[in-house]
Amino acid sequence: MIQKTLDNLFEEFLTKESIFTCKGALQAKYQPKNLLHREELVKELASILAPTLRDELPSNIFIYGKTGTGKTSVIRWIADQLSSKAGSIDVRLKIIYVNIKLDRVADTEYRLFAYLGEQLGATIPTTGLPTSHVFDVFKREVDAKDSTIIVILDEVDRLISKTGDEVLYNLTRMTGDLKHSKVCIIGITNDLKFLDTLDPRVRSSLSEEEILFPPYNALQLRDILARRAEIAFKSGVVDQAVVRKCAARAAREHGDARKALDLLRVAGEIAERAGDTKVVEKHLDIAEDRIDFDRVLETVKSQPRQSKAVLFSIMRLNGEEVTTGDVYDTYRHMCMNSGLSVLTQRRVSDLISELDMLGIVSAKKKSLGRYGRTRFISLHLPSVVHGNIHEVLSSEFGM
Ligand SMILES: Nc1ncnc2c1ncn2[C@@H]1O[C@H](COP(=O)(O)OP(=O)(O)O)[C@@H](O)[C@H]1O
Ligand SMILES: [Mg+2]
Repeated sequence: MIQKTLDNLFEEFLTKESIFTCKGALQAKYQPKNLLHREELVKELASILAPTLRDELPSNIFIYGKTGTGKTSVIRWIADQLSSKAGSIDVRLKIIYVNIKLDRVADTEYRLFAYLGEQLGATIPTTGLPTSHVFDVFKREVDAKDSTIIVILDEVDRLISKTGDEVLYNLTRMTGDLKHSKVCIIGITNDLKFLDTLDPRVRSSLSEEEILFPPYNALQLRDILARRAEIAFKSGVVDQAVVRKCAARAAREHGDARKALDLLRVAGEIAERAGDTKVVEKHLDIAEDRIDFDRVLETVKSQPRQSKAVLFSIMRLNGEEVTTGDVYDTYRHMCMNSGLSVLTQRRVSDLISELDMLGIVSAKKKSLGRYGRTRFISLHLPSVVHGNIHEVLSSEFGM
């Protein structure tokens, strides 16, 4: 019975024509051939790096800007151009790109040095050597290349949060210890406050040049989206008006091209599943809700257990005038029932503030006249996710 239904569903899917021609063009990892509205930044970066073509060492560069502002795409594009230029004039240049988060090298300096060493052709065991030794192996490998080496550390903030900034200090000052090669470091982050967290010595050597990628405005997003929609969809599926709306929605928070592309992709998937031949505004509405839904659910799931317990307590109270004391009572009972250690009320109050900052609960101070001020806490979740979150939490705490 089920077998037959599935067969039908697959058959139907195969006979239906897709509205996409290349859905991959809407995915974040797609490398566009043309980068729009970044001419100035491309020129600026290229002129900082151009000295490598004359065997000179360029400044280290620190690139920062919010997510989806084109940092990764721009630097990768320049790196490709620069490599092929160097190749064509026989200049010894090697560029290593590593994304600290995606390439999973964040946890230890060891893994980073081993990864970089491997990119240069060294074989390094994945564990077992002292870290300083791995760094030496990497340094030796670099020097043996007798080249200029540009190391791009994308999402570099992830590295420092685990290992401390010593590693950046070592990398940015490496050239001093080398006889034949030179090393230039490019650090990239979405975290606008990252530089402030570094030791001043590290900060000054990493940010010899600092480049800010500002958010896109709605018009720029529209152009980026329009170009990608042309590649991704059959012609006639997405009208200019829909592209414009999609860009305007993505520009509402900050001009994030990744978000704009996600929105269009999810809207396309929804249209296709509904059997519609055009993507229209209704699909954007549903897509936006779905993306919010996923984001909230992910945020809740990734909270530490204690925060989840606090959230679940607020959820179970679910009242208008709930105070920290009320939450704490419920929380304490829950901990005792589920074997979780009980934190102090002070700590729980901090966790409530964190949930408030994440936008999951709302904690508003109200004046009670001569009785002073108190915080009233309520859930601040889109109602569509309530059920799912309740399910996640109740299975976690067995209630
Ligand atoms: N100027 C641009 N032109 C075309 N596509 C862009 C541009 N900027 C960003 N994108 C696209 O938006 C998405 C996110 O860009 P990305 O470079 O990953 O941003 P960041 O690294 O700043 O978070 C990618 O799919 C990228 O192709
Ligand atoms: Mg990036």
